[in-house]
Order: sequence, then C-alpha cells, then structure tokens
Amino acid sequence: MDFNNTSDFVSGFWNMYVVVLSLVSVVGCGVFLLIQDKAKTNAGNTTGHVWDEDLQEYSNPLPNWWRWMFYITVVFSMVYLALYPGMGNYAGSFGWTMRGQYDAEMKKAEELYAPKFNQFLQMDVAAVAANPEAKEMGQRLFQTYCAQCHGSDAGGASSFPSLKDSDWLWGGTPEKIKETITGGRTGIMTPKGTKPDMDGEQVKDVVHYVRSLSGLSADSIRSQRGKDLYPQACAACHGPEGKGNPDAGYPNLTDKVWLYSSREDSMIETVTKGRQNQMPPFGEFLGPAKVHLLTAYVWGLGGAKGEAQPAAAAAPAGMSGMEGMPADKK
Ligand code: HEC
Ligand code: HEC
Repeated sequence: MDFNNTSDFVSGFWNMYVVVLSLVSVVGCGVFLLIQDKAKTNAGNTTGHVWDEDLQEYSNPLPNWWRWMFYITVVFSMVYLALYPGMGNYAGSFGWTMRGQYDAEMKKAEELYAPKFNQFLQMDVAAVAANPEAKEMGQRLFQTYCAQCHGSDAGGASSFPSLKDSDWLWGGTPEKIKETITGGRTGIMTPKGTKPDMDGEQVKDVVHYVRSLSGLSADSIRSQRGKDLYPQACAACHGPEGKGNPDAGYPNLTDKVWLYSSREDSMIETVTKGRQNQMPPFGEFLGPAKVHLLTAYVWGLGGAKGEAQPAAAAAPAGMSGMEGMPADKK
C-alpha cells in the first residue's frame, strides 16, 4: 500500500476538483447560515402552515445554541483543512500523512516487541510452545493472520484444514509446519470426470470404493468395480492403499477426516471437477520471528502425531503449562 500515491491527481484537474468542492461546501454552509440568520422571522406567530388540522409551524428564529454550533463547525473545518490534508494535493501545514503515522506506530511497536520476538526465535519450537507468553502472542498472531481461513479455534472449515487434529496434509512436525507457513502450499487434484478418464458411472464406482476404505456407507457392487479403477486413476497420488502422502499434500482417504465433506455428492464433485486449494505464503510478509511463534502455536495445539507433545497442549486449561516439562525445557 502506498498512501502517498497521488498519481490520480497528476493531471491537476482532480486536484482542483477536490479543492473547489471542499471549499464550496464549507463556505456554502457558512453563507447559507448567514442568509438564514438574516431571514425575517416573526417570533411567536405561526407561518400559517397547518397539518393534521391542528399541527402548526412557528416562525421563530434559529435557536442560538444551534447557530453557534454551526458557526463553530464551519470555522473548525477551515482550520482543519489548513492544518491537515483534505484539499487535493495540499498536505496541510502539519505535513501529517497516514503513511507517516503508520510508520511511526510500526516503529514504536517494533522497538517494544523486537527483543521478545528475538528471544523466542532463539528457542526451539517445543520450548516456545510451552511458554505461556509465547502462546499468547502466537494466538494473537493467529487471530490476525490465520483465523479468517482456519477458524478462530483453528478447527478449520470446508476446504480449510483443521490445525488441531492429528491429520496433516503436509506433515505435522515443527519443520513441516514452518515450511507450510513460510512458503505456502498448493493442493491440486486433477479432474477425472472427463473422458478419456472416467464417465459418470465410473466416478461413482470409484467414489464408493474410496468410501468403503474409511467405513462410510458404500454400495458393495459399485465399490468392487471401483476397486479395479482405483490403482490406475488414483493411486499415483493417494497411494496404493489410499493412505495419501504428506510430503506432497495428498490426503489420506482411509481416515475419518475430510477436508471437504464425507457426503457422496461432495466426493463425486471432487473427483469429477478436481480441486485447487491454496495456503498463501507468509514467510516474507511476517518475517522469521513471527513465523517461528506461529509454528510453535500451531504445533502446540496438540495435533502433532508421534512427537513429544508440549506440556502446554496436554495440560488442562488454567495450568501454566510448565508442569511436566523436562528440566532442560524449563
Ligand atoms: C486464505 C486462506 C488461508 C489463510 C489466511 C491461512 N491459511 Fe493455512 N491453509 C489454507 C488452505 C486452503 C490450506 C490447505 C492447502 C491444501 O489444500 O493443501 C492451508 C493449510 C495450512 C497448513 C497445513 C495443514 C496440514 O494439514 O498440513 C498449516 C499448518 C496452515 N495452513 C497454517 C496457517 C497459518 C499459521 C496461517 C496464518 C499465518 C494460515 N495458515 C493462514 C488457507 C489459509
Ligand atoms: C494428481 C494427484 C491426484 C490424483 C490422481 C487424485 N487425487 Fe484426489 N486429491 C488430490 C489432492 C492434492 C487432494 C486435496 C485437494 C486439496 O488440498 O484441496 C485430493 C482430494 C481428494 C478427495 C477429498 C479428500 C478430503 O479430505 O475431503 C477425495 C475424495 C479424492 N481426492 C479422491 C480421489 C479419487 C477417487 C481419485 C481417483 C479417481 C483421486 N482422488 C485422484 C490429488 C489427487
């Protein structure tokens, strides 16, 4: 974002347009008020207008408090436009810019938090995950940058994976999680529902076979036919037994976790049209220290499989998370 970008104003026309519009509005308000002030009124008498038989309009002057408020507003606008930007290219005598304020605030925050971030960056993921302060900072980052897709509880939604279960498309070790956050991921399933791949019946057959792998309801005849189609059409990615491949983001089709839905029509749609799914890269945008904190936060949610779990994730809510940690991690 470049708040200083005034390329729209280079022609000069829009600049003048905005300046004239601003001035005419403010001055116009003042003039209108003066005219109303001078208008002849007839205090205590009515204008002669009658509504609903007995509702009448008095011809009183404007109330003083209202008039003065209005005058003050007009003067305030003039002073404001002299000091702050508001009239086309004119920057205002204070030289204030949104960009400048943003930079100043960022700089202040950077100075305040940099030592903390750097301290955690020196620690390994398990130790960071067990640190209550790091967890709080990680959670705040997660709410800001990740929750809109993965949900505020990291539980995911259709097409957005849950980050707190033990099922990982791309692997749940600290290294893999960090790789995912840094470089992003793209999950592509190629469409299979067009000839010469498969016709609609064959798609249904192979879907029934896949459903049978995880104990979902499936037609046994279809599933038998689908079993013959699977090796050629699906095994290259999902593996000969349907267990997937977390090195390439190919989901396991034999478990109970579904990125999309376990409904038959959703699976038919997946196979027919394919899927394209993108986790955006955050490495450059957030920098190594924030990525490190987020890695620890996501890992600490407890879904990592086969890894020593951080105590903070295993401990019931309310505990500090330091109990039960090996001495060298404290
Ligand atoms: C614009 C939506 C979006 C945002 C924002 C987003 N993600 Fe993702 N994320 C995804 C999608 C989609 C996937 C699944 C990619 C795939 O299908 O292979 C994913 C996958 C992941 C995975 C891999 C999960 C697995 O099962 O292996 C991790 C870890 C992850 N995201 C963490 C994060 C973190 C941390 C943030 C915040 C910095 C974040 N994501 C922000 C959309 C998003
Ligand atoms: C080119 C590799 C590739 C091939 C071939 C492939 N898939 Fe996939 N499949 C994927 C990927 C990648 C995803 C995950 C998409 C995503 O990340 O959103 C996926 C997702 C799925 C899902 C949804 C899983 C979930 O958790 O919701 C189903 C069901 C599925 N595939 C079935 C099949 C079947 C059946 C075949 C054979 C007809 C097949 N796939 C062939 C790569 C492939």
